[in-house]
Amino acid sequence: MSRLIVVSNRVSVDKGRGAAGAQGGLAVAMNGALRQHGGIWFGWSGEEVEHFTGQLTMARSNGFTTATIDLEPQDVEEYYNGYANRTLWPLFHYRIDLAEYENEFGMGYERVNERFANSLIPLVEPDDLVWVQDYHFLPLGERLRAHGLKNRIGLFLHIPWPPTRLLVSLPFHERLVKAMLHYDVIGFQSFEWLESFLHYCRKELNAGVDEQKGTVELGGRTVVARAFPIGIDHKEFMALGETEVARRAQVRLVGSARSRTVVIGVDRLDYSKGLPERIDAMERLFATKDDMVNRLLYIQIAPPSREDVRSYQEIRATLEQKTGQFNGAHSDVDLVPIRYVNRGFGRAELFGFYRAAKIGLVTPIRDGMNLVAKEYVAAQDPEDPGVLILSRFAGAAEQLTDAVLVNPLNHDEVTRALWTAIHMPLEERKARWRALNAVVRDRDVISWAEDFIEALKG
Ligand code: ADP
Ligand code: G6P
Repeated sequence: MSRLIVVSNRVSVDKGRGAAGAQGGLAVAMNGALRQHGGIWFGWSGEEVEHFTGQLTMARSNGFTTATIDLEPQDVEEYYNGYANRTLWPLFHYRIDLAEYENEFGMGYERVNERFANSLIPLVEPDDLVWVQDYHFLPLGERLRAHGLKNRIGLFLHIPWPPTRLLVSLPFHERLVKAMLHYDVIGFQSFEWLESFLHYCRKELNAGVDEQKGTVELGGRTVVARAFPIGIDHKEFMALGETEVARRAQVRLVGSARSRTVVIGVDRLDYSKGLPERIDAMERLFATKDDMVNRLLYIQIAPPSREDVRSYQEIRATLEQKTGQFNGAHSDVDLVPIRYVNRGFGRAELFGFYRAAKIGLVTPIRDGMNLVAKEYVAAQDPEDPGVLILSRFAGAAEQLTDAVLVNPLNHDEVTRALWTAIHMPLEERKARWRALNAVVRDRDVISWAEDFIEALKG
């Protein structure tokens, strides 16, 4: 069996109980896939050193090896905070208004991709499958080829792919996408993102696109481009749900809600997640319906993310102001309607919180997939399941069609969805949940990784 070499910016070993949770979907998913498959997980250590050396730190845990390198402060600024999170992330989430196009960011991004290629090459053996993750490394395949690597190399993009009209605003967009065509397989979270990618290749690169076969041909190379919707590690998550930690978390939340219906949101504090819009929807619900303070409790768990980037500082300030204002207006002496919590929780605790909540509110403005929606479904009590309200702009909406789907920008629609969810009869809740749960259980992270790896083997 071929070894798997996974490359991602963040390498995180889930420490299980009490692990900090602000790591996002990629880390959670790769932990699941590598535990199953074994191999090496290569990436940034998260540490900075004054001068880059490329020295590898190797460690072994959970059945796989991690190999990490430190970066220089300038790398982190230009590649991670800069090109990855001030240029590509906003552009790929349709926030062209927030995208910053600075030359230094682009140069830093290319420099770090080259550094990663250099450090990775000595680790790779001839039969290894190299699987690169996410928007931090779009040109890494091309860099590895430039160093003579002949192995099969795949890329999976965890975030959306933007419409061509937006992407062409990026300086050197052609160079970036042409570099991507040095991978053997490129995977997307949904058919919508895949279609946008194929559209770009056809229109801007004049490449040969075969939609049936899912291939793109340019300059004598053929690349497979397909949708591989990611899932959660269902088995592992359900096992966590059996623990005393999960049970205690559930009891604690239900008890403290004092008979109110609990609505839960769990998101990295990111402008793509639609958090201020959720409060606007709540505002309408509280304004139009009597006595909501006695009926509803909204818990928003939102660990801070990418705190050196200004747009993230701004979204945090906006949310603090909005929740403060909301609670000021709607609290009673002994009841506060929004609990806004800026920290991570262990995954077992999260399971308990999801289960305690009768409504899961997952309303990103754009999201590659959104694993929180799937975790919420998995954690429900089959005999008395809660209702998932899901943005139609999340990749997950292509699969989770039995959720209450909403346009997160239409506050009235979200308000109505909340009202519908509060009153949904048990039979309907059960029927929707059964359909949702079948998808979440059957299309898990293990089958996702297997599908991608099969395609990568060629
Ligand atoms: P993204 O990848 O953009 O962060 P996803 O919804 O796909 O969004 O994945 C988020 C992952 O991070 C989920 O597995 C979720 O459980 C986890 N997570 C988010 N917030 C927390 C938190 N406060 N504590 C623990 N885990 C969290
Ligand atoms: C999303 C991205 C990941 C990223 C994660 C957390 O899931 O797709 O690549 O790791 O967010 O963001 P961070 O910048 O903290 O790694």
